[in-house]
Amino acid sequence: MSKSTDLYLKAKKIIPGGTQLLSKRPEMFLPDLWPAYYSKAKGCEVWDLDGNKYIDMSYMGIGSCTIGYADDDIDNAVIDALKRGNMCTLNVPEEVELAELLCKLHPWADMVRFCRTGGEACAIAIRIARAYSKRDIVLFGGYHGWSDWYLASNIEDETNLDKAHLSGLEPNGVPQALRGTSIPFYYNDTEKFKELIEKYKGKIGAVIIESVRNKDPEKEFSNTLRELCTKYNIPLVIDEVSAGFRIAVGGAHLKHGIEPDISIFAKGMSNGYPMAAIIGKKNIMEASQNSFISSTYWTDRIGPAAALATIKKMINNNVYLHLIEKGLKIKAIWQELSAKHNIKLNYGGMEPVPHFGFAYNNPLVLKTLFTQLMLDRGFLASNAVYASFAHKDEHIDKYKIAVDESFGIISLAINQNNAESLLKGPVCHSGFQRLT
Ligand SMILES: Cc1ncc(COP(=O)(O)O)c(C=O)c1O
Repeated sequence: MSKSTDLYLKAKKIIPGGTQLLSKRPEMFLPDLWPAYYSKAKGCEVWDLDGNKYIDMSYMGIGSCTIGYADDDIDNAVIDALKRGNMCTLNVPEEVELAELLCKLHPWADMVRFCRTGGEACAIAIRIARAYSKRDIVLFGGYHGWSDWYLASNIEDETNLDKAHLSGLEPNGVPQALRGTSIPFYYNDTEKFKELIEKYKGKIGAVIIESVRNKDPEKEFSNTLRELCTKYNIPLVIDEVSAGFRIAVGGAHLKHGIEPDISIFAKGMSNGYPMAAIIGKKNIMEASQNSFISSTYWTDRIGPAAALATIKKMINNNVYLHLIEKGLKIKAIWQELSAKHNIKLNYGGMEPVPHFGFAYNNPLVLKTLFTQLMLDRGFLASNAVYASFAHKDEHIDKYKIAVDESFGIISLAINQNNAESLLKGPVCHSGFQRLT
C-alpha cells in the first residue's frame, strides 16, 4: 500500500465519492494504483506522497494549468495580491482591468460578470439568457457542469447526457418540474438543431454549445446557429471553459468566426487559480441586473490577479501556438508508434488536447494497461493529453520512449489476448459510476 492509496481509502469513508471532481477519481485512471494525491507540482512534474516523481502527460490539472504547475510569474502575481489583502469590504480594481482586457480580446463583447468555476459560470449564463429572453427552454450541445438546469435533461431521457458528454448521470435531486426544460442537440448536426428550433420556437430561452470539443464546427452548423438565434432573438452562449485560450488568444470562437451573445471562460484563464468570466453583449448582460446573481467569494483578489497574469503571459508568449505544436507532436507519436506496433487507434480532440482510443472490443482494459505501463515508467498518462506551456521537447522525447515500450507490450497482449491478466488492479471506469 502506498500513502496515496491508503489516504484515498480513508477519503472514500469521509468524502462521498472520495474527491470533488469526477475526473480526479483514481478509478478513472488506474483503480487501486493511481497516485491519488500530490505533495508538490512544478512545471509538468508531479511528486506523490511517497516521493515518486512523474511527468504529467495527462490532464495537467484537468485542463486548468495551461502554463504549467506553480508557474513563477503567475504565483508571484498571486503572492503580491495576497500581500495586499485577498478580501476586503471594498472591491478589487483588478476585476475592472480584467473585464476591459476580456472585452478588448473579444470586440463583440461589452460587459463581463465574474464567478469562480465553470459550472457556476454556465449556470449564470443560462440565468442571464433566460432573464433576457423570458423563456425557459435551453437547447444545449456538450458539457456544461453539474447544475440543475443541465442535469434536468436526463429526467426526460436518461441517455440525453450520455450523448452530450458523460454517461450514467442520474438526475437525482433535480426537481421533476424541470422535465423538458433542457434538450440536447449534437455538434455539427444542423438538421437536428433546425428541427428543435422549429418544434420549440417561442419557448427557447437560450442555446448553449461548447466552442469545440472533438471536432471543429462546420461552417453550415455555425452559420445556422447564429442565424436562427438571431432570427428568434435567442441568446447564443458559447462555452469556452475547455477550449478558451488554447487555440487563440481568447475564445476558440474567434478562430471559428462565430459571434456569440454570451461566452464563458473558466479553468483555462487563470492557470489553476479559481476564476471564471461570463462576457456578453450589453443588452443581454444587463438582464443580470433584473435577476439576483451574487456571491461573496466571486470578489476575491487572487482570481483576477491570477487571470491577468496568465492572460498576459499567454499573449506575450503566444502560448496557444506552443500548445498546438506540442499537441500535434504528441498525436504524431501515437500515430507513428501505433503503426510500428500494429495497434489500431482512433483519434479525436482539439489540436492542443489530442486523445486516442483503442479500436478493439476491450478499450477500457487496454487504456488501463497503458496507464499502468506508463506509470511504471514515470508518467501520469491516460489516453488524452492537455498540452501545456511547461511541456518542452525534452519531456515529449522521454514520453515517446515510454510510449514505444508500452505500445510494444500492449501489442503483444492484444495478439495473445491476455491484456486483462497483465493488470495489477481493476479496469478503469468510464462515465459516472457510484463508488461505495
Ligand atoms: C465546456 C465545459 N463547461 C463547463 C465545465 C465545468 O467547469 P468546472 O469543472 O470548473 O465547474 C467544464 C469542465 O470541464 C467544461 O469543459
